[in-house]
Amino acid sequence: MHPKHFIEAQQFDVDLLNSIFKTAREMEQVVQHYGSNILGRRVMATLFYEPSTRTRLSFESAMIRLGGSVVTTENAQEFSSASKGETLEDTVRVVAGYSDVIVLRHYESGASQRAADVSEVPIINAGDGAGQHPTQSLLDMYTINREIGRLESISIALVGDLSHGRTVRSLCYLLAKYPNPKIYFVAPESVRMKSDIKEYLTRNEIEFSEVDDLHQIAGEVDVLYQTRIQKERFGEDLEQYEKARGKYIVDESVLKCMRDEAIVMHPLPRVDEIDPLIDSDPRAAYFRQAHNGLYVRMALLKMLLAD
Ligand code: CP
Repeated sequence: MHPKHFIEAQQFDVDLLNSIFKTAREMEQVVQHYGSNILGRRVMATLFYEPSTRTRLSFESAMIRLGGSVVTTENAQEFSSASKGETLEDTVRVVAGYSDVIVLRHYESGASQRAADVSEVPIINAGDGAGQHPTQSLLDMYTINREIGRLESISIALVGDLSHGRTVRSLCYLLAKYPNPKIYFVAPESVRMKSDIKEYLTRNEIEFSEVDDLHQIAGEVDVLYQTRIQKERFGEDLEQYEKARGKYIVDESVLKCMRDEAIVMHPLPRVDEIDPLIDSDPRAAYFRQAHNGLYVRMALLKMLLAD
C-alpha cells in the first residue's frame, strides 16, 4: 500500500523506492510522447513559503504533463494570507478543500508533518527548513542509478553545507536502504553533518567517515555530491558563512583526481562551489539530475492520484 503523505526519506522502503524508479523510467517515455491524461480533472496545489526554481516548476510541469491542473502560491509568506497572520494549519485545511494534493515548501523543519496532521489530502514535503527534502533525494537516487547503473555499494562524497543541507540529510537515509554504501562527509568545520544522521548511520551499520581533503578522496568515489553553503541559514552570523564559503570548490583540479566513470552531482542552485568550466565534462551530471526531477515527481503524483 502507498503512503498517504510523503514527509521524510525514512518512510520509503526498497520495494517502494524501486517501484517509484520503475514508474519514473516509464514517465520518460510518457514525456517523449507528449504526456498523458491520467490525472485529468485532478488539481495540485503548490504552497511555497521559501523560494524555488526546480522543485516548484518540476512538480507543476509534472502535473500538467499528466493532464492535471495546478493552483499555486509562490512566496506564500508575503502573497498568501500568512501575511495577515493565518497559521500554516488553517491555510492547509482550506487549500485541501480546493485540491487533491498539496506540495509544501516551508522555512521551518517539521512544517510538512504539521500540515499532514490536519490535511484531508496528501501532503508532499518539498523541503522544510534545514529538515528534509525527500523528493530531491528520490531524484538523486534515480540519477545515481541512471548514471552509475546500480544503487548498491555506492561510494559517495557529500560535500559542503552538511549541517543545513536538507538534501544530503534525506539522501543519507535513502543510501542506507541499499547494501554497502560508503559515505565520506567533507564539510567546513562550522557546517559538519549533524549527530542525528551520524547516529542513524551507525545504528544501521553504514560505513562513513569525515575527511578534510577533497582531492584525496575524489578518486575513491562513484559520486561527488557538492552542495551550496546556505547563507540564508546563518542569520546574522555572516562571519561563519564567509569562513565556510569557498573552502571546497569542484573544479578541474578535483575532476582530474576523479575516475572516468564517476559523476559530479549538485541539487542546485549553485553559487561558486562548482566552477562552470567543468559543465561540459561528461561527468558533470547536475543538469541531468535536475531534469530527472520531472520524471520522479510525475511518478509520485501518478502513485498518489491515479485511479
Ligand atoms: N534543488 C532544489 O530544491 O532546488 P530549488 O530550491 O530551486 O527548488
